Amino acid sequence: MKKDLLSIYDLDPADFRVMFEKAAKLKKMMKAGKSCQPLKGKTLGMIFDKSSTRTRISFEVGMFQLGGIALFLSSRDTQIGRGESVQDSARIMSRYLNGIMIRTYAQESVEEFAKYATIPVINGLTDLLHPCQILSDLFTVLEKKGTYEGLKIAYIGDGNNVANSWINAAARLPIQLALACPEGYEPNSFIFERAVKASQGGVVLHRDPADAAARADVIYTDVWASMGQEAEHAKRTEVFKPYRVDRKLLACAKKDAMVMHCLPAHRGEEITAEVLDGPQSVVMDQAENRLHVQKAIMEILL
Ligand code: CP
Ligand code: NVA
Repeated sequence: MKKDLLSIYDLDPADFRVMFEKAAKLKKMMKAGKSCQPLKGKTLGMIFDKSSTRTRISFEVGMFQLGGIALFLSSRDTQIGRGESVQDSARIMSRYLNGIMIRTYAQESVEEFAKYATIPVINGLTDLLHPCQILSDLFTVLEKKGTYEGLKIAYIGDGNNVANSWINAAARLPIQLALACPEGYEPNSFIFERAVKASQGGVVLHRDPADAAARADVIYTDVWASMGQEAEHAKRTEVFKPYRVDRKLLACAKKDAMVMHCLPAHRGEEITAEVLDGPQSVVMDQAENRLHVQKAIMEILL
């Protein structure tokens, strides 16, 4: 039976282990200049309803390195943009492709696509979730800290897709997750409550960013206005000001805490340039790992 990656919540601890071992192996081989092409002759369709730099490039390059090809399918230029149904699109694309990656607005669209597709569907970001990002982030934590078990991850800012996927990870892995979000900008309540019940390390929502950051191993943030929320940018900038990751907030965390951001970042908004470009920041390695982890995801699913 085909397997999709729609949410981290669908994975069990063994899936994470297999994926990260594969990603580490693929990364090592790439760095050594050795080619590894288990997906020779395979094709991945990539449907984008929203912009992307990292996701598009890492999937496309990753597929090429694995021996296959990736097709960029802007919904504007396909019949999807002119109203062809998800049901028909999914069934037809399944006749041509070996896998499909989708970046869109509603999580339900990706789920509907997966329901009708007979090939694996990968969630490349929705308004609700961003699983590929958090899988790469966990791999980065594992690489840098040797483990994620028992580590405290502090997520500061908007309760958005990235926050929700971190919460899903905390429901599945023994990490401690502390979030700090302003009133009215909390993560999805269903995802949060479900994780509180399932979590081994604890999932807590604070108002004060200093409480979340206290003795944290990782300080993580993301934009205050996600794609599709551009009209709210000015209002959000006011509300979120106390949630900026700056030198003072970083001082609440452990001395060796690392700073993470899924990028793109807005220097001076959710994070100061000094912290983003500072010695504790791992954002470039974090972005690179999208390539290695997604190659592992594609090898496993396709
Ligand atoms: N982090 C991330 O998904 O980046 P892109 O929007 O550039 O793909
Ligand atoms: N929360 C951000 C993540 C971008 C990778 C957004 O959805 O725009």
